[in-house]
Amino acid sequence: MWNGFATQRPAATPDKIVIVGPRQNVHLQQSRGGATLSGVDVDVAETEVELRDVIALELRLLDPVVRASREDVAALLAEDFYEFGRSGTVWDRASIIDLMASADSSDEPVTVEDVHARWVAPGVALVTYRTRNRSRGTLRSSLWRAGEHGWKVVFHQGTDTGVVTQRCPPPIEAGTLGAAGGPEFGWDPQTYMALMAEEVPDYPALQDQLVAAAGEAPATKVLDLGIGNGVTARQVAQAHPGARLVGIDSNADMLTAADAALDPTRTELHQRRLEDPLPTGPFDLVVSMLAVHHLDSPGKADLFARVAAALAPGGRFVLADLVVPDDPVDVVTPIDGVMDTPSPLDEQLHWLQQAGLRTRVAWQHRDLAVVVAEAPETVDG
Ligand SMILES: C[S@@+](CC[C@H](N)C(=O)[O-])C[C@H]1O[C@@H](n2cnc3c(N)ncnc32)[C@H](O)[C@@H]1O
Repeated sequence: MWNGFATQRPAATPDKIVIVGPRQNVHLQQSRGGATLSGVDVDVAETEVELRDVIALELRLLDPVVRASREDVAALLAEDFYEFGRSGTVWDRASIIDLMASADSSDEPVTVEDVHARWVAPGVALVTYRTRNRSRGTLRSSLWRAGEHGWKVVFHQGTDTGVVTQRCPPPIEAGTLGAAGGPEFGWDPQTYMALMAEEVPDYPALQDQLVAAAGEAPATKVLDLGIGNGVTARQVAQAHPGARLVGIDSNADMLTAADAALDPTRTELHQRRLEDPLPTGPFDLVVSMLAVHHLDSPGKADLFARVAAALAPGGRFVLADLVVPDDPVDVVTPIDGVMDTPSPLDEQLHWLQQAGLRTRVAWQHRDLAVVVAEAPETVDG
């Protein structure tokens, strides 16, 4: 069953590949006799060949004929495979092979949509997609690893889309948001802290580390990028009692919560995207927690250049965010691969350095990191 599929390691790791080109949806019609891969609508001209092959392997795992065959499933699953099922059950390789073999091969049509694949490390690819049938909607992600016996899936997670579909705001055109409001999605301040507790269990540690790194020198003008409900900014403000705080976020509901959480006499909030021009500086401190990973690689590099330009001489940017860890086992926070697009730490350090900032990693734990990036003391560096 591996015949015809590329099994070589990629020569390089591109920043990010969304391999489904102009047509973003892939539909797999599943018939009683098995999944008809010919029904997959992938723009091959726009794809990167090996990632396309990984997608084909992923789709094979949805094929009831393949699923019924212990041998075929075993050929696709790494020895150390495990899965977090949509019900919360943790499956190991043997138990998932048993489950697939014993499942009723339903003839309900399954639709596969929004398939994305990208490299997360050399020889490691992340595939994300949504599945729907009559009764179930699931957001799925799989990590595939290339080895001497071809590509094998090492981890799979299925998440009920009722929990996650509206978690992230989809892209909003610059300028569509303003005082009168605009399109708003996801991010509910009422449920935000519960969501963080569930999806980012080390959120409090990340926040503490950001505040510690931000508090090393007194600041007078602070910018928070993606301020959300203001809980992190409030702690930063407490550590810098003399500072004026400027916060931006694209979500009006989160900004309303931030407005309530922060001292109005020293706070200025703007409904604005990270991709938009930054508020007028200079700032001696810029912070951002769990927002920059929503930008793609060029978007992050562009933001870092604009942050560098907005920093006062000697000013400091503290970035606390999700990163792609070196070891896929360290992936803790579910990412949809579409709106959640974390980058490896070393790439982000490189973009910060390219922007003229001196960097150091203040803290790292699994898929979270806090980076300090400082502007030169003088304009000449
Ligand atoms: C996970 S929350 C983090 C909030 C806050 N920084 C914290 O520490 O809890 C992400 C925030 O980033 C905002 N956000 C996501 N993408 C954005 C973008 N492109 N421009 C502006 N804000 C964005 C969301 O609206 C949300 O409030």
